Amino acid sequence: MSRIAGAKEMPLSTSGTAAGPADDPHPGLGRLRDFVRAFAAGLDGPIEARAGLLRDLVAQDDWLPAEYAEPDPARYRQYLLHCDSAERFSVVSFVWGPGQRTPIHDHRVWGLVGVLRGAEIVQPYARAPDGSLRPASSPLRLEAGAVDVFGPDIGDIHSVANAHADRVSISIHVYGANIGAVERATYDEAGRGKRFVSGYANRSLPNLWDRS
Ligand SMILES: [Fe+2]
Repeated sequence: MSRIAGAKEMPLSTSGTAAGPADDPHPGLGRLRDFVRAFAAGLDGPIEARAGLLRDLVAQDDWLPAEYAEPDPARYRQYLLHCDSAERFSVVSFVWGPGQRTPIHDHRVWGLVGVLRGAEIVQPYARAPDGSLRPASSPLRLEAGAVDVFGPDIGDIHSVANAHADRVSISIHVYGANIGAVERATYDEAGRGKRFVSGYANRSLPNLWDRS
């Protein structure tokens, strides 16, 4: 029994240093913690550098806890994985059931999408002179490992869909705000906006900070 309340006794490795706890349910969370720390440190740097950090994170699909990868049969889910304490950025796991898609929507802050599992189809939109929304380009197909950038200065309106009709896809999104609390809009193709605040599907966050 531990002499300190709450402390875990850890086996010693052959080198004499403490090994990781054998009962750690989320051994991959160190990867997310390292990403969050590097992202915060580089927050004022170029978006390309931040995109590179996300590319490194989604290059390995071994760290997202199962409870933040759970699809909902009715609609896509957004799980908050981390929010900066000053709400300068947030990290969200998007879980797409087969064939699920978003409406056309905006963000009002910069954003990065990195596909962790499966694939996504992104359709960017632009305003036509009559105010309606038209596809700004052909749809983009993002496979696992790919990263996309969007924001008010480079195009902020799109729709996103699971590229697969028969399986779950998951992407990791990073936004320049606590995105679940940002008042933004969905649009119909005539360009008429409807206010929404997305919130999040989860009530508790992964604990990135316990290193015992
Ligand atoms: Fe989006």
